[in-house]
Amino acid sequence: MDRRKVLKGLGFGFATLPFIQVKATQPTLKDYSSYFTTDQTTDEKFWKKFRKDFYDVPDDFINLENGYFGVQPIPVYKAYLQNIEQVNVNSSRYLRTDYSKDFTEIKSGLSDFACIDAGEALITRNATEALNIAIQGLDWQKGDEVILSGQDYFSMIETFEMLEKQKGIIVRRIDLPLLPESDEEIIKQYEAAVSSNTRCILLTHMIHLTGQILPVKKIADRFKPQGIDIIVDAAHSFAQIDFNLKDLGADFVGVTLHKWFGNPLGAGLLYVNKTRIKDLSPLFGDSGADADDIKKLDHFGTLSVPTILTIPNAQAFNETITIPVKEKRLRYLQNYWTSRAKEIPNVMVTTPYDPARSCAIASFKIEGMQTKDVIQQLYDKKKVFTVIRYLPDQEVVRVTPSLYNLTEELDVLIDGIKSIA
Ligand SMILES: Cc1ncc(COP(=O)(O)O)c(C=O)c1O
Repeated sequence: MDRRKVLKGLGFGFATLPFIQVKATQPTLKDYSSYFTTDQTTDEKFWKKFRKDFYDVPDDFINLENGYFGVQPIPVYKAYLQNIEQVNVNSSRYLRTDYSKDFTEIKSGLSDFACIDAGEALITRNATEALNIAIQGLDWQKGDEVILSGQDYFSMIETFEMLEKQKGIIVRRIDLPLLPESDEEIIKQYEAAVSSNTRCILLTHMIHLTGQILPVKKIADRFKPQGIDIIVDAAHSFAQIDFNLKDLGADFVGVTLHKWFGNPLGAGLLYVNKTRIKDLSPLFGDSGADADDIKKLDHFGTLSVPTILTIPNAQAFNETITIPVKEKRLRYLQNYWTSRAKEIPNVMVTTPYDPARSCAIASFKIEGMQTKDVIQQLYDKKKVFTVIRYLPDQEVVRVTPSLYNLTEELDVLIDGIKSIA
């Protein structure tokens, strides 16, 4: 797909205020469009100007916790504010007239971005909702087995635990290696857990705890032919690394739009392979749509309309920068600090260094120190904001730079770690 379909789809109803009108003096993304190349990955001057032009971030602390949700770039945030205002002004008249056409166009544009068919896409409120629609929609039978890893997202684990109680499914948990040497090492864990009753494997494409990227396609290719459903949690990989949803080889993929895609909070996306829509029962009662129509799954009531109307603006931002440029810069930032942190005595980086196995997110721990104290000291001493994450058997500090972060901020992090370790 050509991701450079720049500014495509910005003309929706009243929400047509293209973000190039944000401020007369403010450089526009359009001004920048020809500048984004993978050669600029290490050009701090370029990224400093980019930050100044497109982000409004506080200067009283360094935010290295961008994994929770993404700070919206200024043009996206301004478009969002305009959308809130206009929805309020035009109120139900807009929702009862033009909104449905706008929504269809927005969904179609987003589907293009994700390289899927709009008939396979569902815009949800978040990844948790998207994945619950898929997980709870399957026709579980008592004794069906599902394989999870201790590093999957807790909400998904809890959904399966609920089904364990409600439907009598069996949850098998595997331990994934923290620093795998090969894809085979990972696949072997799944092989050991698969039985003739295995019905489904949940895979977190990019693990939120450490940033490790799993070889989802290889795992899907290995186990799908045995009739095992692969459900992918792509909350962190979508719009952070360059991949095509369909190429993951899974029939069900849940995504969030308020992390790396940079949309306002409260939007997600579910992809269901066309041939599998009929296999999902609606989580929210619906008797109007055909069994193979994705619409049967979206009977969940009114969504945040301003949030949805802002999707094209967030999409245009991604399309202008391009995901390969974003991925390369984010991986560079991660490698910048992890390669230095590794050299500090007592520090253990808990993220694979291999570019195919990680990107923006990484984590570390300091031997002999409580992780919560490391986080507190980083903030107290250096005003560096990070977050604790809980692996099945240990706690780590997760560090997540975003596109607006600069290497000078990572130098402060490194100084902080040195002074603590
Ligand atoms: C791996 C993973 N999956 C799912 C989610 C849930 O995303 P959402 O907030 O969109 O429901 C998160 C949120 O942090 C996550 O890290």
